[in-house]
Amino acid sequence: MPDQGWLGKFTLPEPSRALLDSFDNLPADRYAPNAQRERRFAQYLAFFNYKRELLLRRLPDRPFIQSAQYNPLSGGIPREFAPIEPQCDVTPYIEQLFTLLQIDRSRKYHLDVHQYRVYGTPDAAGMSVPEGPHMDGMNLVFILVVRRHEITDKSAEFSLIDPVTRQTFFTTVVGEGEGIGLDDQKMLHDASPVIAAGPERGYRDYIVVNVNLLDERRYGRRHEHGAVSGGTVIKDRFAELKRQRAIGKTNDSFERAKALLDQKSVHTIAVVHGIEAAMRSLKDYSDLRFTEQDLIAIKKAALVIGANHYVEAARQRRRDGEHTYGALNNLHEKLAQLKDLKGGEKPDRNDGLNFDRRRLKRLARDPNHWRLQKKAQSDPRLGAWYYRQYPWRFPSC
Ligand SMILES: [Fe+2]
Repeated sequence: MPDQGWLGKFTLPEPSRALLDSFDNLPADRYAPNAQRERRFAQYLAFFNYKRELLLRRLPDRPFIQSAQYNPLSGGIPREFAPIEPQCDVTPYIEQLFTLLQIDRSRKYHLDVHQYRVYGTPDAAGMSVPEGPHMDGMNLVFILVVRRHEITDKSAEFSLIDPVTRQTFFTTVVGEGEGIGLDDQKMLHDASPVIAAGPERGYRDYIVVNVNLLDERRYGRRHEHGAVSGGTVIKDRFAELKRQRAIGKTNDSFERAKALLDQKSVHTIAVVHGIEAAMRSLKDYSDLRFTEQDLIAIKKAALVIGANHYVEAARQRRRDGEHTYGALNNLHEKLAQLKDLKGGEKPDRNDGLNFDRRRLKRLARDPNHWRLQKKAQSDPRLGAWYYRQYPWRFPSC
């Protein structure tokens, strides 16, 4: 089994009736007229909410375009495909892929989803890949075979090819209800024709999902422009300028974070988050004037300052007879991040926290709430004041 390029084979979740039916309504791929291939296409933004749950948002329909350097047959040409119909819900598949990959849930992803039917007839075979061995120019590619109907067992045999030696080093047939994943940056891939098993038309229904980091922008006008013009030189020059600017800014931000930390400012953490975001878009850290360890040390200290600050804020609010929800929410967020930094170990006083976590429960209780509410029931004037003061306690009003 090759270790490069191949991410494995897995079993797909059961497809819905609506999804299966949607394959019967695919228009022919007019960019591959003799391939006996039908397809639809859609693009999505995938990201995660604070509970780490997947959210999938459909992006506005744009043409699909690959750079000519990847796809010699139809690369560099914007291809307008019919959009995927709404009943074709790919969310269960994406959820499964992201779980299998243990994908970084703090990042955003751009997904290209292609829905295909390739059919073979007794007279002619269908071509899943008319361009031959190729890369798609994506980060990761998944091929999810939803249905194989009346085609030979060896139809659409998938193969991985070494880009240097051009040797096929791995082949497999992806069965119905199975999916495979590959790292598109390492190997070429190909698939053999789809051949009808009987006198009827046989077909293979499948979905291809390309997963890209959103930062790498394989969506939108700039990407399309670059792919059409083949403007790698211009792109590289701009990329280098952009990188230099980003490095300069990130170094400045680090100095600012250090200065804020010296002042024990609660704003340090915001600057640290900014640096982390900037570093995610930088591929190489060699020109930065600090190491990742330096940043982690500052982040830890900044989170401790933040946690202490919000405990004090909650105490003050409690003394003023106000609610403490917001302050405690901020506090728990800081504690959760500290726990992550400590590899899952709970932070404590040894880390610089100046409070006892067990006593936080007391701050969560609202000392005046019941007393005031009881009074407000008997005194209408106090009731009106109480309502103005605490409108969120009257959700029905
Ligand atoms: Fe491909």
